[in-house]
Amino acid sequence: MQDIYLDNGATTFPKPESVYRAVDHFNREVGGSPGRSGHERALEAGREVLRAREALAALLGVADASRIIFTKNATEALNMVIRSVLKPGTHAIITSLEHNAVWRPLEALAERNDVAYDIVQCEGDGSLDLVRMHEALRPNTSLIACIHASNVTGNLLPIEEVAKIACERSIAVLVDAAQTAGRVELRPEELGIQYLAFTGHKELFGPQGTGGLFIAPGTDIDPLHFGGTGSLSESPKQPEFLPDRCESGTTNGPGLAGLRAGIEFILKTGVTQIRRHEEELTTRLIEGLLAMDGLSVYGPHDWEKRVGIVSFNLDGLASPELASLLNERYHIAVRAGLHCAPLAHKTIGTLEEGTLRASFSYFNTNEDVDNLLQALREAKKC
Ligand code: ALA
Repeated sequence: MQDIYLDNGATTFPKPESVYRAVDHFNREVGGSPGRSGHERALEAGREVLRAREALAALLGVADASRIIFTKNATEALNMVIRSVLKPGTHAIITSLEHNAVWRPLEALAERNDVAYDIVQCEGDGSLDLVRMHEALRPNTSLIACIHASNVTGNLLPIEEVAKIACERSIAVLVDAAQTAGRVELRPEELGIQYLAFTGHKELFGPQGTGGLFIAPGTDIDPLHFGGTGSLSESPKQPEFLPDRCESGTTNGPGLAGLRAGIEFILKTGVTQIRRHEEELTTRLIEGLLAMDGLSVYGPHDWEKRVGIVSFNLDGLASPELASLLNERYHIAVRAGLHCAPLAHKTIGTLEEGTLRASFSYFNTNEDVDNLLQALREAKKC
């Protein structure tokens, strides 16, 4: 087992103790299928899912919790929106920091379905020039997809301004909040965002296999899957109402019970406090890295423009080799390579070599940062 876990951008570890307890409680004590039967175990399972939805609504400032639907991860939520909004003959805009979870479904649609898209090029430090986004607009643009924070550089993108550009032209905006939900204040309804995709297993501290989508009031969505919802069972038609419209099949009850506990931990701790802690860790790491020779640090150095995800490279040592060394010799877990985001690596000029990425959560400490810096200093001498 790893001693120092700095791969929270992939999945957070550890989770708050209450998350483990909630999953265990659901599996041992509840056990029913949410929304499927009238007995007490099924009713309690349904209440567990409702509590998870309401916790998310509280965290995201969403008035109607039924506008939050559950999926198995952010990728599924992003696919749902991309396939629903982009009809043949339409056009989409994405940024050059998007993850493959946006790029690949879009490319697949473009190949098969007479859909076009443009990639707005971000700067080498990951920042987005909104003029370029204006220039990419076409009369048939139906969707702008924008990552909230890059999983490679940690950049925060100006989703509020992007939403304004989209809103002025009645274009739908899709925000990929996989790396920000739980660690940055997010109010999609106030910002005029139509679709906000999130995952449960990163900074929301839920189990893997949980995630979802906020769908703004008045906004349509076609389901990705059709099937049993426990409602209107006499009809061959998928229910029109949310969340049932987009939640076919038995949902991940134990996972959502854990997710609810993770969100309650965040609500109790406070996003401001979580962000302040990550600021301390990130600033400490960036300052330590910048003080070393032969090392490149990517993304903005200014905390206000980023989250606790730091990509860097050590001259002369490929990132996978360095990650292996950190793993084997120092028991430090980081992620190397392209992080499923080749567009972002092309943007910062690391498509060939990738980067080494250290990503924090609320449970990391200054000691973790110092141990990583010390290990890197020693690795440089090898
Ligand atoms: N997209 C996740 C990451 O950045 C898995 O590692």
